[in-house]
Amino acid sequence: MGSNFMSAGGLSTTIEYCSKLNLKGGEKILDIGCGIGGSAFYLAEEFNCKITAVDISTSSLTLASQRLSSKYPNLKNNISFIEADVLNQEYDDSSFDVVYSRDAILHFPFNQKKILFEKIRKWLKPGGQVLITDYGTTETPTTGFKEYAKKRGYHLYTPKGYASALSSCGFKVIGDTDYTLEYCKISLQELNRVKTGPGKLKFVEEFGEEALTDIRRVYEDKINMCLTDSRTFCVVHAFNPRKFDDERRQVLETCKEMFKSGLVLGTDGNISMRIGDDHIAIKGSGLPYETLGVEGIVVCDLEGKAISGEVYKPSSEINLHLGLYKFRSDFTSIVHCHSKSSSAVACTRKPLPCFHYSVGELTEGMEIPCAEYATYGTEMLADNVVKAMGNTSVGCLMSNHGSVCGGTSLSEAMYRAKRLENLCEVYLMTKGLEIVNMSEKEMEECRERDKSYGQAEEGEGVGHGNHGCC
Ligand SMILES: C[S@@+](CC[C@H](N)C(=O)[O-])C[C@H]1O[C@@H](n2cnc3c(N)ncnc32)[C@H](O)[C@@H]1O
Ligand SMILES: [Zn+2]
Repeated sequence: MGSNFMSAGGLSTTIEYCSKLNLKGGEKILDIGCGIGGSAFYLAEEFNCKITAVDISTSSLTLASQRLSSKYPNLKNNISFIEADVLNQEYDDSSFDVVYSRDAILHFPFNQKKILFEKIRKWLKPGGQVLITDYGTTETPTTGFKEYAKKRGYHLYTPKGYASALSSCGFKVIGDTDYTLEYCKISLQELNRVKTGPGKLKFVEEFGEEALTDIRRVYEDKINMCLTDSRTFCVVHAFNPRKFDDERRQVLETCKEMFKSGLVLGTDGNISMRIGDDHIAIKGSGLPYETLGVEGIVVCDLEGKAISGEVYKPSSEINLHLGLYKFRSDFTSIVHCHSKSSSAVACTRKPLPCFHYSVGELTEGMEIPCAEYATYGTEMLADNVVKAMGNTSVGCLMSNHGSVCGGTSLSEAMYRAKRLENLCEVYLMTKGLEIVNMSEKEMEECRERDKSYGQAEEGEGVGHGNHGCC
């Protein structure tokens, strides 16, 4: 498959860069400037993707089509090779999961690149991805390099400039875009491969001595231009953001933190946050944390109906979240988990008493409530939790189930879930000991002290909460 490529690194870089796309199989992909079809063959063969592969060059496409018929007849239904200037192509909105282009967009003048990026955004589904590789330049290219690029009709961004150009067309760019060093290493490997030994023999056999001299010079020039002149190499991975992308990413990050902290296993638990007055973002139902992506965070209205374009159903515990948001205007975020110690204490169907002063972080009363048992996911369970928490607690146990905490931010709700788990763990350690619960007066004295806790001036303290302890 290596000889199906015109771009640097051939199959090996294609495998590496495509891994960024996290393809699940069957995606619809537009390949811009597909050349002789190397990437299209790889994506169709490995991931059963459906590829629309466009190139302006008749000779490249003739070769690509011949290879499709002779070498990959089984991929005929996966790939359509189209001879066209991609700027003259029209596709319906949201036609593709991925728009992919290797070392081709450098041919477009800057004003046309902008038109192309805007078209790509329309052609991509919300949440769709862009993967572009291209030659680039530096902030202050030498006169010699400028002339070189002009002679070849290249219009080159810097790696940062590439990211800004896509961002200004509404894309969300992920990670670093400067792959110059990696590009040099790959070019050096390719040079070494044809310099001596079986690689050299094979090349000469296929293409002749003259072509060998040419290709060696090409590689040497490429490396030298990066090391001593103004050539760079850009790899750009970007998303067409879904609506409420930032909020989804915040919930996703907190879900990952909850999983890493061991508060949940498998697909247990869920997290949500309010978006304005009318929506929430919440983890999708039954999705494992390890592979959870931004598309797995679902935006719904306050009736629990997912907004259009969502891929997944919201968490089965949506009623619990909506119920709490309805009655607790102070909550903007909710964390529900099945952490071990909280779940163990919740199996007693009894509240957590005031055995430690940190209980005061989660309630204004003398105990952390335990909601009456009801089947998971039901409105009854939501009602029981709302009733148990009232207006005085920010954390609650759920009989024979787990815990739920609310906060004014995701980090606060998460901190409280961890605090509740920690308190339950300590509580379980007290079993068999003759513990003495705190009195109302003692708790009151702690709450008074909270007012000047930490670095606060007298009377302005906010208590413990996120500040840790002592
Ligand atoms: C360096 S080749 C890369 C080919 C292929 N992507 C690969 O990795 O092997 C760049 C390709 O972009 C194509 N190209 C340039 N301008 C184009 C345009 N306006 N529309 C479609 N293809 C174009 C060229 O014909 C050429 O085949
Ligand atoms: Zn649960």
